[in-house]
Amino acid sequence: MRDAPTRRKQPHELRSHRWFGVDDLRSFGHRSRLLQMGLSEEDFRGRPVIGIINTWSELSPCHIHFRTRAEEVKRGVLQAGGFPVELPAHPVTEQYMKPSSMLYRNLLAMETEELARSQPCDGLVLLGGCDKTPPALVMGAISAGLPFAFVPAGPMLRGAWRGNTLGSGSDVWKYHAELRAGNITPAQWKDMEGGIARSFGTCMTAGTAATMMLAVEALGFTLPGASSIPAADAAHPRMATATGRRIVEMVWEDLTPARLLTQGSIDNAVAAAMAFGGSTNAIPHLIAMARRAGLVLDLERFDAIARRVPLIADLRPNGDTFLMEDFHYAGGSRAFLGRIAPFLDLAARTITGSTLGDDIAGAEVFDDRVIRPLDNPLQPESGMAMLRGSLAPNGAVIKTAAADPALLVHTGPAVVFENYADLKKRLDDPALDVTAASVLVLKQGGPRGAPGFPEWGMLPLPKKLLEKGVRDMVRISDARMSGTSYGTCVLHVAPESAVGGPLALVRDGDLISLDVPNRRLDLLVDDAEMERRRAAWQPAPPRYARGWTKLYIDNVTQADEGCDVRFLEGTEATPEPDIY
Ligand code: FES
Repeated sequence: MRDAPTRRKQPHELRSHRWFGVDDLRSFGHRSRLLQMGLSEEDFRGRPVIGIINTWSELSPCHIHFRTRAEEVKRGVLQAGGFPVELPAHPVTEQYMKPSSMLYRNLLAMETEELARSQPCDGLVLLGGCDKTPPALVMGAISAGLPFAFVPAGPMLRGAWRGNTLGSGSDVWKYHAELRAGNITPAQWKDMEGGIARSFGTCMTAGTAATMMLAVEALGFTLPGASSIPAADAAHPRMATATGRRIVEMVWEDLTPARLLTQGSIDNAVAAAMAFGGSTNAIPHLIAMARRAGLVLDLERFDAIARRVPLIADLRPNGDTFLMEDFHYAGGSRAFLGRIAPFLDLAARTITGSTLGDDIAGAEVFDDRVIRPLDNPLQPESGMAMLRGSLAPNGAVIKTAAADPALLVHTGPAVVFENYADLKKRLDDPALDVTAASVLVLKQGGPRGAPGFPEWGMLPLPKKLLEKGVRDMVRISDARMSGTSYGTCVLHVAPESAVGGPLALVRDGDLISLDVPNRRLDLLVDDAEMERRRAAWQPAPPRYARGWTKLYIDNVTQADEGCDVRFLEGTEATPEPDIY
């Protein structure tokens, strides 16, 4: 039900009024510079200024349609009587940024907040989708505190190659393993490059982008059903224009994030990510978003929701067949949220001015094979589990949905790689002492160690085991893994090895016990030996002495805390800029 209308703002109450509406020396300059661009006073005076924060870049294939989507948002803003201004922002593109796009999530969050705060914005439309951009934009916009709406980039079309359907990421890992095992030729592998990504838009598996766009919808920050619309579908620009219309009304209604976000909306986002079988990356992202809003989200809360919610989206990499296009045609995100309604706080409010319950009322599922009924899920529990134990005192994560069930209870000897370079150098060495029962361990993959918490967590398997037909092993690291990845990979071990967590002390041959049903991850080395190792441990010398990377390393929190930079957490208001 829509709230009883609260008092609408008057034009003189707009934030932008301080720039354009008063008559003083500074506003003379502000207005004259808009006139310089060919605008008239009628274009802006008394109208909500809508900042369209656009992560378009020629190095962001997932966002390459945002140049035109921004125009479509502007059309909606103008229709509703607003004044749209496009504000380019860091694209944080997943494919090209090294060492890790995650290193830059917080930079985009800070940029979003400051773009909004330093300029005469009354409301924001955020254009994002590629993995780190939804959390970054939303984190920044929550901290900025202005009404905002999110336009998700939407998934690209399904991949096609020689009669096969290809899924982003998942089929890259799969066919690369087959290439290394000698089951496909280098020419076939090369030919696949032209078939795996056939249109603009984000990865179309149940990876991080799809998970986070869905989570932002479940949080209440998109129009209903927006997050699953394929980027190339004509419904996508219509959604962008409708969002432009809606944000103007949100400004008049003063529908700020503080008035929308509750513990219930955060839990809704977690439940949606879990029932979707989404990316493990959702965990640090949602924790960081919750902390920006001053709300509670820790690994225990994640695990409690994960145990309660069944996995009902049958999408790769959890299932074998379907992709995001199939998900949308089966009813899409709105129908999916409708199906998991028993696990949602339906009173949570959304940017529509109504409740999530109203937004999803009457949504229909058209294909039960893709969005499964609650009584016939893909898995009875969601696809993730949070672990603790002597190897991960502050937690670790495993995506059980994408793991070999036979390995979820396993004890084996460690084969340790001190860092990623060491892994690349020695993994395929025929002399490596490794069997299918070994546990591969990678250090220096965490937020500070790598730095930037890269997606190294799906450690490749040794070539000699691949050739014997081995396709999964227990792997443990303090890194993340792509949402499109799969395997029995324990991730996000905290504290990370770079700060002296127990992972730093693991040696070749140590027995490691993984017990997912009991949520345990233990290093079976006695306390006295661990003390000896701890006393001898030395951190790696710092490699970054300047710039954003130094600021990040000095301030980033651990995986279980969301990996935000400490000085951006919390709800303490930053003063409005003085205009003089
Ligand atoms: Fe952009 Fe996967 S690379 S969503």
